[in-house]
Amino acid sequence: MTLAGKRILLVVGGGIAAYKVLELIRLLRKDGAGVAAVLTASAQHFVTPLSVQALTESRVYTDLFSLTDENEMGHIQLSRAADLLVVAPATANLLARMAGGLADDLATTVLLATDKPVLAAPAMNVRMWQHAATRANVSLLASRGVAFVGPDEGPMACNEYGPGRLAEPPAILAAIRSALGPAHVQADRPLAGRHVLVTSGPTHEPIDPVRYIANRSSGRQGHAIAAALAALGARVTLVSGPVAIPDPPGVAVRHVETAEEMLAACTAALPADAAICAAAVADWRVASAAAGKIKKVPGAPPPALTLATNPDILATLSAPGPDRPHLVVGFAAETENLDANASAKRARKGCDWIVANDVSGDVMGGEANEVHLVTGGGIEAWPRLAKEEVARRLAQRVAGHFAGRSA
Ligand code: C5P
Repeated sequence: MTLAGKRILLVVGGGIAAYKVLELIRLLRKDGAGVAAVLTASAQHFVTPLSVQALTESRVYTDLFSLTDENEMGHIQLSRAADLLVVAPATANLLARMAGGLADDLATTVLLATDKPVLAAPAMNVRMWQHAATRANVSLLASRGVAFVGPDEGPMACNEYGPGRLAEPPAILAAIRSALGPAHVQADRPLAGRHVLVTSGPTHEPIDPVRYIANRSSGRQGHAIAAALAALGARVTLVSGPVAIPDPPGVAVRHVETAEEMLAACTAALPADAAICAAAVADWRVASAAAGKIKKVPGAPPPALTLATNPDILATLSAPGPDRPHLVVGFAAETENLDANASAKRARKGCDWIVANDVSGDVMGGEANEVHLVTGGGIEAWPRLAKEEVARRLAQRVAGHFAGRSA
């Protein structure tokens, strides 16, 4: 598919990566797209309006209050004349202003006034990307339908390493194509229009304000599944326990601590077409957590903890009812009799599929996973794969399940 006849409004934010938009414009023009550009004031410190104008072969817009702009093409018309708005680089500041609904310059005004799809390509320092404020802004924007491409992980201009680099122009071009093409929507975004709920990470069950009970879980597999589903076009709500990894881009993330909070966040996210419970939920919580830190008294016996059973989120979501997701998938971490235990768990929990993994090796927190997929049709043994690849295959299977059913 080419972008012939498509009109892109490129909103350029002020970041060191802004130079890459010149290459993006070149690729878009080569593909037949018309490109108009809005530069924020800070973007003009990194690329000049003249170079953007030369490459787009059209006017560059910078000023909300320019009468000429308002006469020739008001900001409302500017955003509506486009088929897609692309924000690149989407800086932390620009994302915050978008999330807050600010309209304090031409860039944010067109983004607030538009009724067209918006694709954002974030780029910023790794700590800014991982900051809770940015995480919340990205989740909020994703839940409103903003699509994201990147950021990539790698060395950064600020001499740090991590996620935060602007996606490469060819990757942004591919994301633009899939955001625009209905044919592409079918082929590459088979889960468009579907809502998928994913749980990930451990839960922390407080003993007192400083101590807790938890399972070992990095959240890597669940987060990768959320990202893979979003890549296939699904609207994803990820309910995550405390993890040390960043939120996946393009996913609405609800952060929780305890199993009870996780269940509440899951039921609040319903209805969903599918639910994938990859979280390692603590089976028990302390019946009544101490309000103050439990004192260690020399010579005194250790405190006895009375435990209460936590709700089973997977079983709750699997229970028949009007809000039951069409497809519910659970995980089974087993150290022996993998298939038999997983099949029994599938029946006991009432879910549709079980992804069973042998955790006798280095799966917990590791890079790879070797799983068996247990469905009503039988058991498939998948080879040892990177967690991201397990996620991609599972997302494809979910898409296959919904193929042919109207969204
Ligand atoms: O019973 P077990 O913990 O082995 O089951 C694992 C599966 O059940 C996983 O999918 C896990 O996310 C889910 N689960 C849950 N709520 C619990 C316990 C497990 O959703 N309280």
